[in-house]
Amino acid sequence: MEKILVLDFGGQYDQLIARRVREQNVYAEIHPYNRISPEEILKEGYKGIILTGGPNSVYDLSSPHYDKALLTLGIPVLGICYGAQLLAYMAGGTVTGAKDSSEYGHASVSLREDILFQGVPEESTCWMSHTDYIKSVPKGYIVTGSTDRCPCAAFRDEKGMLFGVQFHPEVTHTEYGRKILGNFLFGVCKVSGDWKMEDYATTLIEELKGRLGGKKVLLGLSGGVDSSVCAMLLNRAVGKDLICVFVDHGLLRKGEADLVEKTFRDEMGMNLIRADASERFLKKLKGVSDPESKRKIIGEEFIRVFEAQAKKIGHVNALAQGTIYPDVIESGKGDSAVIKSHHNVGGLPDVISFDEIVEPLRDLFKDEVREIGRLLGLPDELVRRQPFPGPGLAVRIIGEITEEKIRMLQDADAIFRETVDRECLPEAPAQYFAVLTDTRSVGVMGDARTYGYTVALRAVTTDDFMTAEWTRLPYEVLETASRRITNEVHGISRVVFDISSKPPATVEWE
Ligand code: XMP
Repeated sequence: MEKILVLDFGGQYDQLIARRVREQNVYAEIHPYNRISPEEILKEGYKGIILTGGPNSVYDLSSPHYDKALLTLGIPVLGICYGAQLLAYMAGGTVTGAKDSSEYGHASVSLREDILFQGVPEESTCWMSHTDYIKSVPKGYIVTGSTDRCPCAAFRDEKGMLFGVQFHPEVTHTEYGRKILGNFLFGVCKVSGDWKMEDYATTLIEELKGRLGGKKVLLGLSGGVDSSVCAMLLNRAVGKDLICVFVDHGLLRKGEADLVEKTFRDEMGMNLIRADASERFLKKLKGVSDPESKRKIIGEEFIRVFEAQAKKIGHVNALAQGTIYPDVIESGKGDSAVIKSHHNVGGLPDVISFDEIVEPLRDLFKDEVREIGRLLGLPDELVRRQPFPGPGLAVRIIGEITEEKIRMLQDADAIFRETVDRECLPEAPAQYFAVLTDTRSVGVMGDARTYGYTVALRAVTTDDFMTAEWTRLPYEVLETASRRITNEVHGISRVVFDISSKPPATVEWE
């Protein structure tokens, strides 16, 4: 298999670079600079090497450096940002730091004609993020690009094997970034671009087989995309040695627990334990209205239930987690020892005994995880699943939680989601759901006066959920949802639409 090495020097964008390469159907893998030697690079047969950015200055004694043999391996190299500076420095160029030469953000870059810039206009916008800059290129090297502040924004060696760009082609703000990376891959490294995500899934399963063969693996399955895809992969790798524990806290969406059980146990034949604990949760939540207390109770109770199941199972060799790359960044890049708090719910019980943690999805972005799910045959309903908070409907029922309120919200929410799915797909909002407020208001039905609850509908458009815009849903969708909810859900007499963005509001109401 043709593959590209992303040599990581501690930059924030290492995974993004690998992903941009994979997007062009070329397999890329990342290795920290200090964990792979030039000999190993040769042995692995990489078709090209990309040096990532990094926060350091090449003149710092403690900054990451690499063996000069890299320059003569006969494998094309593209250095990005710090990677470019390091490449220039290693080959005898000079790098310097000056406050007034630092650039952060958009910059206009002038690029000469070069194999790396084929099909790229002479002037375009790129994304810069650097303090140091390359003052002079190594002897015999050619400067191929510059900005107002940066005399050497791009360079290459005479042979056309070693390239450096000060800007970041991997971020979307660099207008022709994709093209430039493509030129490196196809023009310089001469790869064919026939790699598919399917191959990645196959390799991953083979690796898991090798690593976990004969071992017992425990996975907390929430039914969310990440843990579901993780379950599918592990099932292919270890089959019945995978034990999935699914805690049903009774605050899931309508039909959700049954869907998870049907999919994973009935259809895929997995070893699934459904811990039906709704009564236990409701009892603990009785009389509680404060949002934080609700979350805390659910988090703690969740752990107790998971713990009780794990105790019954006894010692397991590995605990699997559906951690994906954005979670890795959140919990501190490079710190692989950090155990992500249990999928959706805070904290893992420390009484569960296991020897190792396995996180098969930790190099992937959400859409790549979805693609693997699709390839492995995960039903569309689960692949497309919107995010759902760990505490479930508890944070969407304002005030005290009762069985009756859960029923009302589950029904109203199912109607709303069904309506949006029917009318808005494939352009559905990132998240859309119903909230049961604790406001009751007077209504009229037939000749009788009613005094029912108010449901709020929420739909948001967002890429990362850190900020979000309320989605301008068509009036017809709102009209259908409102009419059906008030007609079909007993106890609800009013529907409102939430038009707050985040910030200042949050996506969830509690
Ligand atoms: P907020 O309400 O903070 O939500 O704007 C942002 C995103 O996070 C989800 N969310 C949660 N997810 N456990 C989770 O796993 C939680 O406790 C939780 N609370 C909010 C929310 O649905 C939205 O997608």
